[in-house]
Amino acid sequence: MSLQREVWPSRFAFISAALGSAIGLGNVWRFSYLAGKYGGSAFLFPYLIALLLLCVPVMILEFALGHRFKTTVIQAFQNISDRLKGVGLLGNLSSFIILPYYAVIVGWCLLYLYHSLNTPWVGQESDFFYSTILNLSPGAFFDFSLNIPLIIAVAICWIVFYLCISRGIAGVSKVVSITVPLPIIILFILLVRGVTLPHGMDGITYFFKPRFDLIWDFNVWRAAFSQIVFTASLGFGTMVAFASYLPKKSDIVKNSLITVFLNSAVSIIAGAVVFSTLGYMAFKQGVPIDTLAKSGPGLAFIVFPKALSLIPYPHILSFLFFLCLLTLAVDSAFALLETLCAALVDRFPRYSRSSLLIFSTVVCAVISLIYTTGSGLYFLDVVDHFVSDYLLVGTVLLQCIAFGWIANTEEWRRYINSISDIRIGSIWTFSLRFICPLALIILLSFSLYSDFSTPYEDYPQSLLWVGQGVCLLAFIVSFYYSFFSSKRNTQ
Ligand code: PHE
Repeated sequence: MSLQREVWPSRFAFISAALGSAIGLGNVWRFSYLAGKYGGSAFLFPYLIALLLLCVPVMILEFALGHRFKTTVIQAFQNISDRLKGVGLLGNLSSFIILPYYAVIVGWCLLYLYHSLNTPWVGQESDFFYSTILNLSPGAFFDFSLNIPLIIAVAICWIVFYLCISRGIAGVSKVVSITVPLPIIILFILLVRGVTLPHGMDGITYFFKPRFDLIWDFNVWRAAFSQIVFTASLGFGTMVAFASYLPKKSDIVKNSLITVFLNSAVSIIAGAVVFSTLGYMAFKQGVPIDTLAKSGPGLAFIVFPKALSLIPYPHILSFLFFLCLLTLAVDSAFALLETLCAALVDRFPRYSRSSLLIFSTVVCAVISLIYTTGSGLYFLDVVDHFVSDYLLVGTVLLQCIAFGWIANTEEWRRYINSISDIRIGSIWTFSLRFICPLALIILLSFSLYSDFSTPYEDYPQSLLWVGQGVCLLAFIVSFYYSFFSSKRNTQ
């Protein structure tokens, strides 16, 4: 039985599921390390611009597509024009590529949660992360040795993701009623702890005090725009799939605004938690906060646990933090899995939903093994870099062009306004036609320029090929699907 025929029991259930998908590791792990890397508050301004310029109009677009066509992203774009089905496929391919490594990061969180009651990392945080958790081979970019504890943790995660969505909309609604509020409550507890620490407010100042010295640095803009796409789950087809289960009378604009702004509010609260705690750590260790904040992707798994270990009751705080990460990540991961499964249900109606769900879970779980090996972190890093900077940004660009230039955008605007309390003006059409494509084209060109001039993280070309190859393959397959695959009956 397909989820297609089901309907969310309430607006609250839909918003919770959309928020559950949007609020994930991206809000805490990715947002805080990017904000740290790009100077704290210097990152906030481009981030907020990207939120208004790109996130709001595209979220309305995705919700409207799902709501009107009551189908998943490939079919939705195909309904606009047969040639556009590849744009929908790109979204599904992004989910398929990201889910396996996302699941492995959830596995890291589970291992940290397991260890948090005795915090064995204290005094050797970096070693604990790279050696104990990841079993990373330093410098060996193609080491496929297996890491059994991590494999067990990731396998548990896959079973949980499967169970969360195996009972369809009803099950998802129940799970998100816990996994959405719980991490937010924990973040508030950690925020109170952070700002009441000595010099915690120094961190808050670092994060919020406006500074525009990096405004001309394109890397900051590039990071802010790709972060918005990733964190709001844009371009993946997830929001289209979720909106397809909305009842006929649903306020598209209000739902989009609530999802977009609450998602970013959680990122900002998470940033305040991380930076206030780092403010205290900087004071304790007598180092500038900038040095701590710039520690890159290891921020949530190395520097932050170290900061927590300097505060009274580190076990409780660590437990809360990793429980927060885990619960944030679980509903994002199963949203990705649901997106894939719904697409398969759409494409292969003769197979049952449960067998397609098992199939997609097993295939993604097997792929995720690559990211648990001795070189797993390197693969994860290059794939994440190329997928978020090219595949996702490219997908959203194509969505905007398809919607702004091929669909009858004005007619869509009338449709959205006919069911929404808050009306959207012609600025929405203008954004999708001009502002978003222009911003995304500039961004993509800059990314290409900077990746051609300096190899990402100075990795060897053989490793970079993994990320570049995956992206290129996704674009080629989608192009082929759009232009050379036979026409299927549309709904
Ligand atoms: N938005 C999620 C995050 O910030 C990632 C995600 C993307 C989840 C797409 C589901 C679908 O972590």
